[in-house]
Amino acid sequence: MIVFYFSGTGNSRFIAERFSRAAGAACLSVEEAADFEALIAQTDTVGFCYPVYGSCVPRPMREFVLAHGRALANKRIVILSTQLVFSGDGAHALCAFLPGREAGVVYAEHFNMPNNIANFPLFAVKNGEQNKALLAKATRKAERAAEEVLRGRIRRRGFHRLSVLIGKSQSALWPQVEKRAASDVRISADCTRCGLCVRICPMQNLTLGKDGIGQEGKCAVCYRCVNACPARAITTLLHQKPGKQYLGISE
Ligand SMILES: Cc1cc2nc3c(=O)[nH]c(=O)nc-3n(C[C@H](O)[C@H](O)[C@H](O)COP(=O)(O)O)c2cc1C
Repeated sequence: MIVFYFSGTGNSRFIAERFSRAAGAACLSVEEAADFEALIAQTDTVGFCYPVYGSCVPRPMREFVLAHGRALANKRIVILSTQLVFSGDGAHALCAFLPGREAGVVYAEHFNMPNNIANFPLFAVKNGEQNKALLAKATRKAERAAEEVLRGRIRRRGFHRLSVLIGKSQSALWPQVEKRAASDVRISADCTRCGLCVRICPMQNLTLGKDGIGQEGKCAVCYRCVNACPARAITTLLHQKPGKQYLGISE
């Protein structure tokens, strides 16, 4: 088995790694430069792990699955999606891009994880010890998922018709929100032009020129730059300066 993940700020990588370790699976970011088709050809089970955005799949993961559709046909599919509180059908959402839709999915699970939307007024950002209990619970769930996949238990979280219906209440609006946000990264006067955001952007959306940080209209709203900027000078989607940034998960 091999697990591919996209992780804006580390939560999905954490789950992908915990699951893969327990399942004895290989684990790789979709941002790596690798011969993905050859890796997929060598296995009968392919896992995907990603964060849900408005009950939808992030653009880097969608594009990865669509690019390798032919190689993925007839594979057993495992889907692990991470979320802050709720998505309804966050794991099911990937089916729209899979060659066999729901047919090949043998396991799907949702994982509640720390908040990475640093400027979302409803949820506080927590770091370090404050996330200890949540991460311990998520680890146990990832290990249980691995054990269940290995013994062939079918679980398809988010696939129930009611879950899909609830997910639609968020996902119906998301494509428009995502489209508008794609070219709406804002850089405040606090920017020191250090270029970190340019180097870490998974979409190669940001550029550093003589006028400062520019953008190519490809923001995937992953919040990596918003949380990493040393000057807290970047916003996307929501445009309030982040109070506390999410530092991700340190081992
Ligand atoms: C743009 C955006 C939209 C999000 N939408 C949802 C959502 O609809 N429901 C939810 O529970 N969490 C939502 N989240 C929270 C993330 O899914 C969650 O924190 C995830 O674990 C982050 O994973 P990562 O660190 O791998 O990027 C959203 C986060 C972002 C950045």
